[in-house]
Order: sequence, then C-alpha cells, then structure tokens
Amino acid sequence: MTAYLMILYQNLKTLHYNVVGHGFFTIHKELEDGYSAISKMADDLIERGIPLGFVQPSIQSAVLAYQSDLLPVMARDGHDSIKLAYDGYIKAIELMTIANDEVSSDIQSKLDEYIYYLRKEAEYKFQRYIGEPTALPNIVDEDD
Ligand SMILES: [Fe+2]
Repeated sequence: MTAYLMILYQNLKTLHYNVVGHGFFTIHKELEDGYSAISKMADDLIERGIPLGFVQPSIQSAVLAYQSDLLPVMARDGHDSIKLAYDGYIKAIELMTIANDEVSSDIQSKLDEYIYYLRKEAEYKFQRYIGEPTALPNIVDEDD
C-alpha cells in the first residue's frame, strides 16, 4: 500500500506538470496539494512501519508492483487530469481499506483518517469538478 502511494505521488506530479488549458492555475495548484498530502502519508506510514518490521518499499519494487498504474508523461486537460487523480485516490482508499485488517490499532486509526481525507477530496472536490455523481442523494420526499 505504501508502494502504491509512491506511485500515486509520482502520478500526481506528472499530472501537475502536464495539465494544460482551462483551469490550469487552479488544477496545477490542486495537484500539488495532492502530491504533498500523499507524500506526507507515505512518509508517516513508512516511518511507523519500520519499527514494526516493515521495510521501506524501494521505488523499483513499487514500479514493478504497479507498472500499469504509472501515467505516461503527456499533456492532459483539466478534466482528464482530475479524473486520473480521482481514480488514483480511489485505488489508494481501496488498498488502505484492505491494509486496515492487517495492522495495529494505532495504524488503523491513521488509515481511517487518511481514507476520510482521500474520500472527501475525491468524492467532493474532484467529483464536483469532473461532474460525475457518486451515490444518489438520499432525498426524502415530504410531500403528502
Ligand atoms: Fe510545482
């Protein structure tokens, strides 16, 4: 899971550098906030894991494990960039959710915090931008 965060970090940087067109200034900055947050998460989890016997994933092992997730360097518009960032966040959430079953309770609460953050970013900010609804709103019709 930390190996995937290293890939996600790299992907967000790739998106940050290569976004073009409408909304550039906003999205360029937003993606920087994203890779900064992911970098802090990876750093935090790796440093907590080492005393517990986990090893730092090498960039080589991360690339081998997640080769198909690595984004090619190319110009992308804002919509495509944010959609790819969204997909990356969702995958990170899935991997953190799986890892949550195998770690001690202090790490579980950290992962819960990160999952909450990533979900909020993905399902609120990113999805509002790309315009694809997640869950149906739970609207109760109170008319008689
Ligand atoms: Fe930058």
